[in-house]
Amino acid sequence: MTESNKEGFLEKKLSRRRMLKLTGAGAAGVAIGASGLGGVLKTFGVPNWLDDNPNVDNKVNFYGKHQAGIATEVQSHVYFASLSVLVDSKAELQQLFKDWTPIAVNLMNGQQIGETKNGYVPPVDTGEAIGVDAKNLSITFGVGPSLFENKKLGLSSLKPKELKDLPHFPKDQLDEEYTGGDLCIQACADDPQVAFHAVRNLVRSAIGKVSVNWTQAGFNSIPVNKEGKRETPRNLFAFKDGTENPHSDKDRNDVVWVQKGESKPWMTDGTYLVVRKIQMHLETWDRTSLKEQEATFGRYRHSGAPLGKKNEFDAVDADRKDENGNYIIPETSHVFLSKQVKSRIMRRAFSYTSGTVGHTGAYDAGLLFISFQKNPQQFIDIQNALGRLDKMNEYITHRGSALFACFPGVKKGSYIGETLFNA
Ligand code: HEM
Repeated sequence: MTESNKEGFLEKKLSRRRMLKLTGAGAAGVAIGASGLGGVLKTFGVPNWLDDNPNVDNKVNFYGKHQAGIATEVQSHVYFASLSVLVDSKAELQQLFKDWTPIAVNLMNGQQIGETKNGYVPPVDTGEAIGVDAKNLSITFGVGPSLFENKKLGLSSLKPKELKDLPHFPKDQLDEEYTGGDLCIQACADDPQVAFHAVRNLVRSAIGKVSVNWTQAGFNSIPVNKEGKRETPRNLFAFKDGTENPHSDKDRNDVVWVQKGESKPWMTDGTYLVVRKIQMHLETWDRTSLKEQEATFGRYRHSGAPLGKKNEFDAVDADRKDENGNYIIPETSHVFLSKQVKSRIMRRAFSYTSGTVGHTGAYDAGLLFISFQKNPQQFIDIQNALGRLDKMNEYITHRGSALFACFPGVKKGSYIGETLFNA
């Protein structure tokens, strides 16, 4: 982030006092104050520790070696939130994550976050997810570079050197409205309201401690074939997106999960999350011939197979040439260029549509690109390889960007981020 960007970003952060005013905290009677909802949650019986409930339908486990929502089979919806922290000390931040832990378990169990017994205060849970099961909700937490730069929190010595703002890439047209953040919450579910409900209630339970910086909802349409097997979702350019990904445990250890000694010790079994809000110029794409579209990606639209091959999962052979000596997968195609570096990443993207741009009638639509990698450099290498050459640049504009370090998974009896706070 440039200095002027940083200033703008900091200005945008709400002061704790202003936040309390906005939320009505402190007003007599019904409003809930900065530490109020936490207190209310305890009063109304949200215990300090909760377990995964195995008897719930469509349930993703909260506890484990890694956080959920990363290797978890991709759900059909995401609600992604970038937050700023308003707390003034490491102890308060640690307490925030301790408070969030049982709430997140409850949410992933498909439960309300607490019972409302007192009619004279606002309901503990906002309630819009009542009556549905867990909908495979996963909640993933991460911390951004700016958190470690906040002197009041005293975390600077724990900042991994790779956790720094992503460089400016050619063709980036980033909008500060969708850039950076101290914390992130990625809520994914097979229901948009369940994903939103999770973020809404986590943020609400932390009134005065965090403020929302930016959010983005996204979706995936996941086809299921005749044998009942899930297939790769298509993005808004109609191409299968997510074919080449590390699918095995070994691949994920190589590509996604930080191994001992590869980053700060608190990051072992964690990963780095890159999020890019990428606008896709659908009107231009829709005027492009099928052949040109396929040359843009280097894959067939219908089958998802690499050009010159038959099936979606056939290996990409970027060196193969036709009888005239031309590359079968064009040199400016997205797939050809991403293959020019050894680095790999795990992509877990969602489409978005957010109305239209002004009164132009053009869709404000695109891809909420999310990738996980054990080192952000893997993403940087690939993005640099795509650089100015990627044919897809004609059809996309990068609008938002952030990097977060996602903690390892939570052990039973522990809390989110424990490895950082006890480092
Ligand atoms: C709107 C933006 C984007 C769209 C629509 C898009 C779409 C696609 C599609 C259709 C494929 C081929 C199928 C597959 O393997 O999943 C693909 C592959 C890939 N994309 Fe993207 N992508 C976008 C942005 C990015 C970005 C920003 C990166 C990383 C810097 C990236 C990295 C990759 C990689 C590594 C592959 C696998 C290539 C291979 O080895 O076969 N993509 N993408």
